[in-house]
Amino acid sequence: MIPDQVLFLDTTLRDGEQSPGCSMNVQEKLRMAHALEALGVNTIEAGFAIASEGDFRAIEAISHEVRGPGIASLSRARREDIQSAARALDKARCSRIHIVLASSDIHLQYKLKITRGEALEQADSSIRLACTYFDEVEFSPEDATRTDPDFLCQMVAVAIDAGARIINLPDTVGYSIPAEYGAIFEMLRSRLPQVAGITLSSHCHNDLGLAVANTMAAVAAGAQQVECTINGIGERAGNAALEEVAAAMMVRRDMFPCSHSIVLDRLYATCQLLPEIIGFGPPPNKAVVGCNAFAHEAGIHQHGVLANPLTYEIMDPSSVGAPTHRIVLGKHSGRSALAHRLEELGVSLEASDLEIVYRRFTELADRRKAIFDQDLLALVSGHLRKRPHSEQALMIEKVAHTS
Ligand code: KIV
Ligand code: ZN
Repeated sequence: MIPDQVLFLDTTLRDGEQSPGCSMNVQEKLRMAHALEALGVNTIEAGFAIASEGDFRAIEAISHEVRGPGIASLSRARREDIQSAARALDKARCSRIHIVLASSDIHLQYKLKITRGEALEQADSSIRLACTYFDEVEFSPEDATRTDPDFLCQMVAVAIDAGARIINLPDTVGYSIPAEYGAIFEMLRSRLPQVAGITLSSHCHNDLGLAVANTMAAVAAGAQQVECTINGIGERAGNAALEEVAAAMMVRRDMFPCSHSIVLDRLYATCQLLPEIIGFGPPPNKAVVGCNAFAHEAGIHQHGVLANPLTYEIMDPSSVGAPTHRIVLGKHSGRSALAHRLEELGVSLEASDLEIVYRRFTELADRRKAIFDQDLLALVSGHLRKRPHSEQALMIEKVAHTS
């Protein structure tokens, strides 16, 4: 059931950009698109052509300059959207339109104010029109996870019959849980034989913090494309984070023995570039790329990691391009971590001196949120200075002043 290959569609420049404070101008989108190309994504969803002049120009510029991945524009199931996307994607090496049309009753009734029958007609006619313009046509029944399963099957059948070759099943409001989301993919495969020749795609939002878990469940249930964003930015609580999905596939190759084209050791740099552009980065405890993702503070953990990183790290930081693990000194740290850091600073202490310095260090750590190298050096030199003519104390004071 698990596909041999998983394709990555990155929607940082479209769904990601829909997150408050994340809008990007043409140059910024271009810069990010080049980084996504280097990262190895298969398709870049570069924007929503009809939404604004800026988005149109960004899609046009990316289509012109970024020749590796396919380039996609979002579109509603409307003629004017499709034609605008066609103009913006005219120069793309491989153009894709991503047509979205609501399928849940709540969206049809309150948002679009159309019947199910009218939605089926719109899906059919817009996809047929799109097939005359683009290399690839992707269709999303919006709010798929809250859609009546029989109607979802009906809409997907219409979309495939009209020519869509990629069917995306968005968990638009982040409502689904993994087993349920995977089951939707299985249901479509078992009820619609025509799905056999189609790329099924996942698109998960993080309202319950389950976007990556749901994405992995979709892959386990046969999804061949995953839609993600860098650092998980996106509407409301965001989208499935690309770096987490790719890292999960790497670390749990036993469960996901599928190939993909992501250059794993570029993940960290790509995730660092985005904050440079949008002005904010992920929280410190963000998986894979947060600044604490490979940091160890507790003594037991530090001791283990210094003996063998595999004790408390499930991936080598360098495999995702992250700096090597950090031993952070704080009130939970042990003697071995303190001695290790002091040795890195060029200070080696006798066991009895280390014991005294360690005691003072824990007193200080109890009062402070962070302990810096300067603090450590001050503790050591303060202790050694009590001895007459301590050369080491003088040397450490010198280091403390110059560092
Ligand atoms: O979340 C969503 O439903 C979307 C669609 C446009 C695919 O972003
Ligand atoms: Zn979305």
